[in-house]
Amino acid sequence: MSLASKLAKRAVHIRSGAISQLLKLAAQADTLSLAGGHPATDMLPAEEIEEIGKDLLGTHGPGILQYGESKGYFPLRESLADYLREKKGISCHVEEVGVSSGSQNAIDAIAKILIDPGDSVVVESPTFFYSIQTLGLYEPDIVQVASDECGIIPDALEDACRKTRVKLLYVIPCFQNPTGRTTSFERRKDIVTVAKKHDVLIIEDDPYFELRYVGDNILPLKVLAPEIVVYVGSLSKVFSPGMRIGYYVAPEELCDLVTAARQVVDIHANGYAQAVACEFLRRGLLEPHLARIGPIYHGRLNGLLDALEQFLADTPFSWTRPDGGLFVWLDGPPSFDSTECYFEALERKVSFVPGEFFFFDRTRGKNSLRLSFANLCQKSLATAIERLADILTE
Ligand SMILES: Cc1ncc(COP(=O)(O)O)c(C=O)c1O
Repeated sequence: MSLASKLAKRAVHIRSGAISQLLKLAAQADTLSLAGGHPATDMLPAEEIEEIGKDLLGTHGPGILQYGESKGYFPLRESLADYLREKKGISCHVEEVGVSSGSQNAIDAIAKILIDPGDSVVVESPTFFYSIQTLGLYEPDIVQVASDECGIIPDALEDACRKTRVKLLYVIPCFQNPTGRTTSFERRKDIVTVAKKHDVLIIEDDPYFELRYVGDNILPLKVLAPEIVVYVGSLSKVFSPGMRIGYYVAPEELCDLVTAARQVVDIHANGYAQAVACEFLRRGLLEPHLARIGPIYHGRLNGLLDALEQFLADTPFSWTRPDGGLFVWLDGPPSFDSTECYFEALERKVSFVPGEFFFFDRTRGKNSLRLSFANLCQKSLATAIERLADILTE
């Protein structure tokens, strides 16, 4: 049987096999990995989670192991609504909040209920590779609009909206994956203005909000235009990615439709994990956890930036200088091909993610690459960049 002849046309958008393969190669024990976007394992709150786990069955009994509500464990939705109000200025009712199996599950459900084949969907340039694939599976016309250090460029967005009837805009405003850039407050206001003018719905994907190491928080787009923004958050980077807890905030009718789209896929997010996450928030453990991990990640970010300065200053390479998150983006001269360099880098025991993965049009991004600083100590980061610089400057 020829599998290719059986595959649906939309399967062409699934490149996760390629990226998983790449990350697997990058995870060899002796390779210094700047590739994976996961938080550092030794920075997950294991002791706190162990403690909560011990208490949970005792307090809740076996009911905690039953099927639960598709929209999410009610006490967790309440805690999230409180948290969003207090920390992010998002005033939402508990019925406007749903819990998903990681934010990826929420993005998929939102795309499923909103995108028809041929609809125009605007994303940043570059943007998160799994979102390109998730959105792509619903066969829209994906338009990657020019972005700079302040985020998506409003004039370019306006242009895209004039050329075609844009239905949806997908943005990652804080410490973007892959560039590490943050959309400025002014830009957020402009983006919302353009979106309102052209009747565009916005998906605000914000899993890195809490990982700010420098400066003050910037109000989410959701605060600026609650009626047109679906806010998607995640506890993956600040609690546990393996627990798979994400959430979405939308006007109630839309929120319920997103829940219905999720329900037919996984019924609900892991109930036990939701109860653990709820206790984590209710016991006030998130703030001290962030206070512990923030300075460590900040030190690593600085370590990476210092190493780039040391080994790549006075070369045609330039890089972003994020205020938070887990990533730095490196741009090379037009002739540079990061995909070609990838295997050479692996041989020299260092890895990264080639830039092309962050573009819908795979011919773009070849001269760029994403570096994650989350999983290496400062000394290893310096060694990794020294090895990488040797390859890049050859
Ligand atoms: C921008 C962005 N959105 C969504 C996700 C998915 O995260 P989750 O683990 O919550 O599904 C990630 C994970 O790396 C991400 O970087």
